[in-house]
Amino acid sequence: MLALVLGYLLGSIPFGILLTRFTGAGDLRKIGSGNIGATNVLRTGRKGLAAATLLLDLLKGTAAVLLAEHFVPGTAQLAAIAALLGHMFPIWLRFAGGKGVATFMGLVLGFAILGDLHWAAPAAYAVVWIGLLAATRYSSLAGMSAGLSAPIAAAILGRYDLALMFLGLALLVLWKHRDNVRRLLAGTEPRVGTARNG
Ligand code: G3P
Repeated sequence: MLALVLGYLLGSIPFGILLTRFTGAGDLRKIGSGNIGATNVLRTGRKGLAAATLLLDLLKGTAAVLLAEHFVPGTAQLAAIAALLGHMFPIWLRFAGGKGVATFMGLVLGFAILGDLHWAAPAAYAVVWIGLLAATRYSSLAGMSAGLSAPIAAAILGRYDLALMFLGLALLVLWKHRDNVRRLLAGTEPRVGTARNG
């Protein structure tokens, strides 16, 4: 129970919204895709804020895994699920949260820090994410692919329990990107670094 509450509460902190609001960068909900993540913060033109959002959204996932395991050993996986659900469905934003790419990376990193998973898993996540972003400049495509790399990497590394959990989380990430998928298929998804209205 503690792991679930701790994970959810940490995951539900909307850093993108908080950082943009308190620095006067605007209302993230009315900018670009309206999403609360770093990609949309970048559309405010504030690169530093976007980087901070990315880092903090990532670290809250890592913190959830590490803190839950520290206080109640054996609950890291529960906390991880709760943290991603907290980010995607935060009570503070009437359950309309983010798409989970950065927080998911933080979770994978957390399991590596715990020694539960080889470092190759978060490394693969980062390489797929950064590599595809650099190659295509589609943040959504890069993020979804990185998310899918997590269950694949865990399975290759023989951690089938984590692979199964990561698969569930990756499917949630894909579902959260359903509008992006439609735009990608229609050829209307904006690339990072270009202006957008929707
Ligand atoms: O992590 C979110 C990203 O993959 C897409 O964000 O704002 O382009 O929908 P956005």
